[in-house]
Amino acid sequence: MTRIRKAVFPVAGLGTRFLPATKSVPKEMLTLIDRPLIQYAVDEAREAGIEEFIFVTAAGKTSLEDYFDTAAALEHRLTASGKTTALDALSVTRMNEGALTFVRQDQPRGLGHAVRLARRMVGDEPFAVILTDDVIMARKGALSQMIEAHGNTGGHMVATMDVPLEMTSSYGVLDVFADKGRIAHARGLVEKPHPTKAPSTHAVIGRYILQPSIFDRLDEIGLGAGGEMQLTDAINADVGNVGVCGYRFDGERFDCGSIQGFVQATAAFALARPDLRDAFAGYVADRTQCFRSAA
Ligand code: G1P
Repeated sequence: MTRIRKAVFPVAGLGTRFLPATKSVPKEMLTLIDRPLIQYAVDEAREAGIEEFIFVTAAGKTSLEDYFDTAAALEHRLTASGKTTALDALSVTRMNEGALTFVRQDQPRGLGHAVRLARRMVGDEPFAVILTDDVIMARKGALSQMIEAHGNTGGHMVATMDVPLEMTSSYGVLDVFADKGRIAHARGLVEKPHPTKAPSTHAVIGRYILQPSIFDRLDEIGLGAGGEMQLTDAINADVGNVGVCGYRFDGERFDCGSIQGFVQATAAFALARPDLRDAFAGYVADRTQCFRSAA
């Protein structure tokens, strides 16, 4: 079983759905309770044993680099004033020396293009891709679950979940030929098919374990859905070579790329925190009652 040591984080997207907030704040820095989305993704990767973190960034994203850098002046001030709890809160942002690398995507040419830019850093080994928009609340991290399952399947693996048929045009969709528990073996994938053309309702969620052969396929494929270079198309083109399966993770996924999904994630994460749960639940219940009686 090959170890998965590297993960690529495509973080170059504009986040237009969150304007004006994302005018000066990268969408990956938007805060879910008390930490930015990127922290959830990095934590999940770390839990899964990832040692090298490759960020594909763009102009206007330097706060992501600063976030994972040491903040000597701040740490000094907190230490001097004895604010140990605040100091401890920073520990999750500390990365091992040299563990984080950045590559710039100069134009928004799609997820496939972003992943291709990581080629030299990934080299010739299987690797993970994490899309920070997809936040997955789970007892055991979704990527950990996948890496464990990948030990038996090999090939390319994507996280998958069932979506309503009318939603297929928002996702990559698997063409499944055999289902075994959490594993859905696929003969192909289609990016954002119209519901009438969708091969199934098994949608791709933003966690991937990919073989390095994906880079040759990314070189070969042209532009796909939305006029962009699609990762889904490259995986599809590699099915005959290494195979692909979907992994039905145990956990709840939130689409933090949409405002509705972000708000739901905020509520779910607040309700999962012992220090916030009771007060928040009480507040929401009262508020909902006010709203209903006013309607
Ligand atoms: C991307 C992928 C798509 C996948 C989705 C999951 O699309 O291209 O295949 O289903 O993430 O969130 P995006 O949401 O960036 O348009």
